[in-house]
Amino acid sequence: MAAQPSTAAPALILLGPPGAGKGTQAQLLIERRGMVQLSTGDMLRAAVAAGTPVGQEARAIMERGELVPDSVVSALIDEALGRIPAGQGVIFDGYPRTVAQAEALDGLLARHARRLSRVIELQVDEEALIDRISGRFACARCGAGYHDRHKRPRAPGVCDVCGSTEFRRRPDDTAETVRTRLAEYRAKTAPILPVYEARGLVARVDGMAPIEEVARAIDRLLVDADRPHP
Ligand code: AP5
Repeated sequence: MAAQPSTAAPALILLGPPGAGKGTQAQLLIERRGMVQLSTGDMLRAAVAAGTPVGQEARAIMERGELVPDSVVSALIDEALGRIPAGQGVIFDGYPRTVAQAEALDGLLARHARRLSRVIELQVDEEALIDRISGRFACARCGAGYHDRHKRPRAPGVCDVCGSTEFRRRPDDTAETVRTRLAEYRAKTAPILPVYEARGLVARVDGMAPIEEVARAIDRLLVDADRPHP
């Protein structure tokens, strides 16, 4: 018998340009709702660090701020979806990023018996994004996130969370590469919004609001999506 789409476990797309706060909000959804984050950026960075064939193909493309081929990222999502228990909600963070990926996702969701509950667009001011991203760094041991101006470690050079003194920056977090990433977003990712709008799935949230406020707005949307439709 064919698998039936699960109505109970939400499947949510967080959409927005680089630095919009997708990863930040995904972390909060993990903590508060027990959802699983599927970030193609994180998967690709892990592949680059491990030196896998996918990582070798992706490294230079990511450093230029361009998009990795659709087939590569859709295969990563397919594999990851297969590992998540049916009852657990998923957050797509940074996927889909092209119309072709959105089409591929339709097939993957059907195959893994899931249904898309919401597409949440985080709306932001592009100039603020360049500041957000070019100042961002993270603890090399536990991954806690910081910012040169807005969120420095309490003790200079020491991670608040784990005490490590090693930090790292993403190689694609330079102002120049961020401009390319924004241009890629406008040209290739923004066109998927009308596709989901036509299905009544898109909701917009002000991504310039404080992090907690953005989280509350997303939570309200998920509560609405959970309500049974008459
Ligand atoms: P990816 O890792 O997906 O990067 P991105 O989309 O550019 O997004 P970021 O991770 O930079 O930003 P974010 O929106 O998660 O913001 P964050 O929460 O960190 O992709 C990297 C590369 O991989 C791509 O360029 C491409 O090459 C490749 N790739 C990945 N997926 C792909 C795909 N599907 N297809 C093809 N290629 C793919 O927040 C940023 C900063 O802002 C943080 O410092 C945070 O603390 C701060 N912040 C967040 N929210 C707020 C707020 N409300 N107020 C103030 N500060 C805030």
